[in-house]
Amino acid sequence: MKAIVVKRESKMPLLSWKEIPDIQCGPEEVLVEVKATAVNRADLLQALGLYPPPPGESEILGLEMAGVVAAIGDAVHNRQIGDRVLALLPGGGYAQQAVVHHQMLIDLPGSWSFAEGAAIAEVWLTAFVNLFIEGTLQPGEAVMIHAGGSGVGTAGIQMAREAGAAVYVTAGTQIKLDKCRALGAELAVNYKEEDFFEAVMTATGGNGVDLILDPVGGAYLNRNLDLLKENGRLINIGLLGGNSVEMNLATVLGKSLRIIGSRLRSRPLTEKIAITRKFKERFWPMLEEGRIHPVIDRVFPIEEAQAAHAYVRKNRNTGKVILEVGIEE
Ligand SMILES: NC(=O)c1ccc[n+]([C@@H]2O[C@H](COP(=O)([O-])OP(=O)(O)OC[C@H]3O[C@@H](n4cnc5c(N)ncnc54)[C@H](OP(=O)(O)O)[C@@H]3O)[C@@H](O)[C@H]2O)c1
Repeated sequence: MKAIVVKRESKMPLLSWKEIPDIQCGPEEVLVEVKATAVNRADLLQALGLYPPPPGESEILGLEMAGVVAAIGDAVHNRQIGDRVLALLPGGGYAQQAVVHHQMLIDLPGSWSFAEGAAIAEVWLTAFVNLFIEGTLQPGEAVMIHAGGSGVGTAGIQMAREAGAAVYVTAGTQIKLDKCRALGAELAVNYKEEDFFEAVMTATGGNGVDLILDPVGGAYLNRNLDLLKENGRLINIGLLGGNSVEMNLATVLGKSLRIIGSRLRSRPLTEKIAITRKFKERFWPMLEEGRIHPVIDRVFPIEEAQAAHAYVRKNRNTGKVILEVGIEE
């Protein structure tokens, strides 16, 4: 099969589409012929050698895919060759073949493209687990979603809206701000022009919010803590704005706040299966109906993974950047 191979000789890693040995599925896995995968920030870091895959997992980049089942493990009885599926992966998506535990699979609706399928797993499951399992978001609550125009943000806004929460976001361009409002955000703050704390405090009549989903980290920590109501929850999922900052614990104690760091990729398989099942039960029917939808910015052929990484690194995307895997003789 072919896969993206990373060469790290200069400062910028070189990504090339090359022949590597075929893979096989284990007894409880299926082998999928990958038709599309997507770029995630974790891939950018992994390509730089800064975010190795969990022990024992594929060294190939790629945390999600959509494709067609091509082989089935001996212990899998509910799948057929030819099933159109999508799934979260611990790695290995940037390739013509990927293996995945059969309980991680989600059926791709007949009317959906593979690109749409590949836009789901990583960002929708991340937004879901953090808003609803870690963050216990309830109807009537207020939630702040930073980087609202990101893949995670565009998924999170829609699910939070459907759950009956009031959604506030930050984003750094007019296109992203407009998209966030169109997806259901009550207020979208351009963090480059306005202080998000002041803007959201004004919009909530001085009340603040119950939950914050934050991929920015250090640069936002103190304003995030100030923005939370009593018993508020701050879920940190990234460090785009740095990882080190001085904070006053009196704010945390004085409002009984919870600060939670949360990762998806490193969770045990059993937890990922449970998260996938709960997500499917609650939000998959809405995705199938089209009430909520994956947001795709651009589709690149996988041979242009290098350019796709550069596009994401420059913060150009609103929603997902997809890599399509063509059929080769
Ligand atoms: N913990 C987990 O399990 C997990 C899983 C998936 C993703 N993540 C993290 O969640 C974040 C979003 O992922 P994604 O794939 O949805 O990302 P994405 O689509 O690539 O979007 C990220 C956006 O963040 C904004 N941003 C970048 N640097 C920033 C900064 N210093 N301050 C404020 N905003 C900044 C940019 O938008 P603007 O133009 O608005 O600045 C950028 O386009 C990433 O940090 C990713 O690593 C974590």
